[in-house]
Amino acid sequence: MPKIIVAIDGYSSCGKSTTAKQVAQQLNYAYIDTGAMYRAVTLFFIQNHISVSNPREIQKALSDIHITFRRHKEKGTNDTFLNGLYVEDEIRKMYVSEQVSTISAIADVRHALVAQQQRMGKSRGIVMDGRDIGTVVFPQAELKIFMTADPMIRAQRRQLELLEKGELIGIAEIADNLKKRDHIDTTRAESPLRQAEDAVYIDNSMMTLDEQVEMVVRLADEQI
Ligand code: C5P
Repeated sequence: MPKIIVAIDGYSSCGKSTTAKQVAQQLNYAYIDTGAMYRAVTLFFIQNHISVSNPREIQKALSDIHITFRRHKEKGTNDTFLNGLYVEDEIRKMYVSEQVSTISAIADVRHALVAQQQRMGKSRGIVMDGRDIGTVVFPQAELKIFMTADPMIRAQRRQLELLEKGELIGIAEIADNLKKRDHIDTTRAESPLRQAEDAVYIDNSMMTLDEQVEMVVRLADEQI
């Protein structure tokens, strides 16, 4: 059976990753969370005090960064490793969320990660979620989804996610972070978040996770 590329883009915390992960499982495809890659780069920049206004330092840092994913069978997670170290929990913390969109707007950072993402999808059979997958990384993807949800619903989902990881953050702080990230992500010069012309728009505010997954799998089946 021919394998396709499923590109899922959309605003922060609209359930892209959760949906993408389950769609990948049902299709028996690989799943790549590109947000995790930008978060891992951000963590490296923070830990190593990389100056975002120094292109040389940025280039050197990028050549020192090696991001990998490992599937945890029992937990059913896809864990992120930065230079061989487990960083899955650390990259989701609020201090990383506060910096990630600024780091992600740097052209050199994007070029390095987009090239890696394109290599990861070379053999197809992949579900990738992010902000520029259908527009820049895989403009030829057979199925493109543009996902969104009501901002307050997104903030509540994010709060629950953080709580499950032991971080208690107020809803106003989370809503503010999502708003700021959406603003930077949609207005940056390099590959801003926007809906690809041929993407299917899904507002999942009133949908359950199962409904979203079912819808995307059905759309994928139509392309296979
Ligand atoms: O998906 P997640 O919310 O974890 O992504 C974190 C941040 O990484 C986004 O707010 C965005 O700034 C950046 N990002 C990006 N391009 C992608 C994926 C994520 O710029 N393809």
